Formats: sequence, C-alpha cells, structure tokens
Amino acid sequence: MMRLVMHDETGPKEIKTEHGDSVWVCMCGISRNKPLCDGSHKKTKDEVPGKTYIYEGDARKEV
Ligand code: FES
Repeated sequence: MMRLVMHDETGPKEIKTEHGDSVWVCMCGISRNKPLCDGSHKKTKDEVPGKTYIYEGDARKEV
C-alpha cells in the first residue's frame, strides 16, 4: 500500500518542554527521524511556490 501526504511547510516547529529545552518537530514531512526534524527540510529551500514535489529517499521530482 502507498499513501501520498501533502505538506507545504518548509521547516520545523519548536516545542518547548517543561524543562525549558526545545524539541524540533518535522513539519515538512521528509525527515527520516519523524516525528523529529533531522535537517532534511533544507532540501526544500529551492522549491518553487505553486509547484508540487515528490521526495523518495534522496531523490526529488517535480510533478
Ligand atoms: S522540518 Fe522536516 S526535516 Fe526538518
């Protein structure tokens, strides 16, 4: 089974813990360490608004 989920965020969301630390949650959808951000959102920096991209492993294609 395959499922496509669309994300339009290009960076993480900071969550403050009760101890005052920060946890960064992936909002772009391509982290390999979900639900946490692993920095993969940097791949989205050159995306063009209005275009749609598919990320699979290290590959990206525009559709
Ligand atoms: S927000 Fe998704 S990898 Fe950083």
